[in-house]
Amino acid sequence: MNSPLLELLRCPRCRGTLAGTGLPLARASCSCCGKEFQVARGALRLAGSAGDYTESFGRQWNRYDVARPAEDDAVFRVKTGVTADSLAGKLVLDAGCGGGRYARLAAQAGARVIGVDLSTAVEKAATLCAPYPNSLIAQADLLNLPVEERVFDMVYSIGVLHHTPAPRVAFSQVARCVRPGGRLSVWLYRQNTPPQEWINSALRALAGRLSPRLLENLCAGLGLVGSVPVINRTLNKVVNFSNHPDWTLRVCDNFDWYAPAYQSHHTVEELKRWFHEEGFADPVELAPEKSGPVYDWAHRHGLIIGGGVNLTALRGTTAHA
Ligand SMILES: C[S@@+](CC[C@H](N)C(=O)[O-])C[C@H]1O[C@@H](n2cnc3c(N)ncnc32)[C@H](O)[C@@H]1O
Repeated sequence: MNSPLLELLRCPRCRGTLAGTGLPLARASCSCCGKEFQVARGALRLAGSAGDYTESFGRQWNRYDVARPAEDDAVFRVKTGVTADSLAGKLVLDAGCGGGRYARLAAQAGARVIGVDLSTAVEKAATLCAPYPNSLIAQADLLNLPVEERVFDMVYSIGVLHHTPAPRVAFSQVARCVRPGGRLSVWLYRQNTPPQEWINSALRALAGRLSPRLLENLCAGLGLVGSVPVINRTLNKVVNFSNHPDWTLRVCDNFDWYAPAYQSHHTVEELKRWFHEEGFADPVELAPEKSGPVYDWAHRHGLIIGGGVNLTALRGTTAHA
C-alpha cells in the first residue's frame, strides 16, 4: 500500500486531500472535513459495498483465481493498445480493477498504479498487488470518483462502465483523470443483433432471480457445455457461455455475464462520441483478440455475444480539452 499515491486520492464527501497514518498505511483522514477511511484487507475503503449492486463481483473475483499472467499480458495489450512494459515509471489508473489482474501487470512493469473498484474484489486486487509498493488499491465509486483530475499518464477501464447504472457519467469521471497528452483506453460490451439482445436480456432477467449459489451451479453447467466441441462455437451465438479452454475461467466468465445487476451494450459510434465530448480528438478502434475473415465479419455485425467496443485516444492538449 503506497502512501505517495495517497496524495492523488480525494475525500469522496468533500474532495479534500487525504492524510495517511501508519506504515504500512492503516487509515486516512480528510484534511478538510475530517472523515476517516480505514484500510481493511489491504485496500483503502473510500466507499462501502455491502448490499450494493456490485456484490456479485466481490463474490466472483474473490472466489475464482483468474489471473493468468501470460494471457493477461496479451489481453491487456489488445484492450488498451499499449504493452504493460511501456508503462514503467508512468502514473496509471485502473478504473474498475476487479480482482486486480491488470493492475498487478502494470505494477509489475514498474508503473505507479492506483486501482479502484466499488466491490469487495479490492481484497483480491490488494492481495495480488501486495508485492508492489508502487501500487495502491482503493474501494471507490467511479460515479463519484475520488481521484485527482488531469494527472494520470494512462487510464484504462476494461469491461467496467457498462456494469454501472450510468455508464456515460462513469466515462466522464474516468476521462477527467487523464492528463493532457495522456491516454485513455476503454472496453465496453458491444451491442448485438436485436434477437440476441432479447434472448440474453430474458435469460439475464431470469438469472437475476436466482440465489448466487444456484446461479453459480448453473454457470458450472454452462462451463461443461463450453467444453463440448462444435456446440461451444455455435450455440454461443444464441445463448452466451464461455468456451475458454480453462475451466475456472469458463465458470467465472459465465457468472460474470449472468450475475451482474447492470449490463449495458454499446456501439462504436456512441463510444467515439463520448471520447470526443470529453476532449479526446481521434479515438482509434482497437481490433479484438481473435481474427479471421468470418470472425471479423461477425464482430463487425455485432454477432459475437460478449464482444467488445474498444477505443483508445490521447487527450487533447488545448485549453478546451
Ligand atoms: C467485469 S469486472 C472487470 C474487472 C477488471 N477490469 C477485469 O477485467 O478483470 C467489472 C468491475 O466493475 C466494477 N464496478 C461496477 N460498478 C462500479 C462503480 N460504480 N465503481 C467502481 N467499480 C465498479 C465491479 O465491481 C467489477 O469488479
